[in-house]
Amino acid sequence: MPDHFLALTDFTSAQLKALISAAVELKAEWQAGGNRPLLAGKVLAMVFQKPSLRTRVSFEVGMRHLGGHALYLSPAEVGLGERESVPDVARVLSGMCQGIMARTFSHEHLLGLAQWATVPVINGLTDYNHPCQAMADVLTMQEHFGQVAGLKVAFIGDGNNVATSLAYAAGKFGFDFAIATPRGYELPQPVWEQAERIAAEGGVTLTQTHDIAEAVRGAHVLYTDTWTSMGQEAESDRRRRDFTGYQINDELLRMADASAVVMHCLPAHRGEEITDEVADGARSLLFQQAANRLHAQKAILVHCLAASANNRLEN
Ligand code: CP
Ligand code: NVA
Repeated sequence: MPDHFLALTDFTSAQLKALISAAVELKAEWQAGGNRPLLAGKVLAMVFQKPSLRTRVSFEVGMRHLGGHALYLSPAEVGLGERESVPDVARVLSGMCQGIMARTFSHEHLLGLAQWATVPVINGLTDYNHPCQAMADVLTMQEHFGQVAGLKVAFIGDGNNVATSLAYAAGKFGFDFAIATPRGYELPQPVWEQAERIAAEGGVTLTQTHDIAEAVRGAHVLYTDTWTSMGQEAESDRRRRDFTGYQINDELLRMADASAVVMHCLPAHRGEEITDEVADGARSLLFQQAANRLHAQKAILVHCLAASANNRLEN
């Protein structure tokens, strides 16, 4: 089976830490003058069902830095599961490209691509999770604090895809994770149960609450995401009402640890889940975090595309 990257739960803690170490090396190598052409001649197909800035640019630039090439396929072109079936798209792309990065609504579509592709499939965000984002976030926290083990990360907002991958990252990387959501926006029960199992293995504390103050107390990182994710636009009025108060602002930051920093996967809806003062303030890691998508994903690309035995150029 090709080396897919679909969810953090598919990897051991040691494997994920090795990917972060590889990302650190690839970032240093790039900053010292450029990366070795580890993916020379390889082409990554990028299938998008949703818009993107960071994911598209970081994968495209990452492939270029590593000597390869990336091909952007817009929602209108592919029509994944509509114009053409998921198994057919997977097999057609496997015949011409050496890897597939996909951003889909349904996680089932991503799993379908992985099932039928003979080249590695990388998750560029689904409604279920966002593992590449979590890897970039861990890299960013490690750069800022020196290590992630022992930190407390407080997530304020929607128990959605980004929160899901962070909840899994907690046990894998050894940080405590507290999530504060409005009622009805908690992490899905199966996600919570799986995250709890991983947290127990990693010896960390996982908390889910509706009390923002409880989540934030003693936190080293305050993290948030949009109240209305892509595909939920019809619910945005209701969500704006339901999430009132679930905002990272100066007042909330004062309730956290004195060393606390602020993170957001972006895109941000300033004035909703985060204020301008905090997003642009001295304790914001937002743009370092965004830039680290490039470096974290280079490690994932090299792991999936360079190492895969099923990934020869004749594919
Ligand atoms: N954080 C993130 O995935 O951004 P894009 O939606 O712009 O890719
Ligand atoms: N939760 C957001 C993340 C965007 C990167 C969404 O799914 O739209």
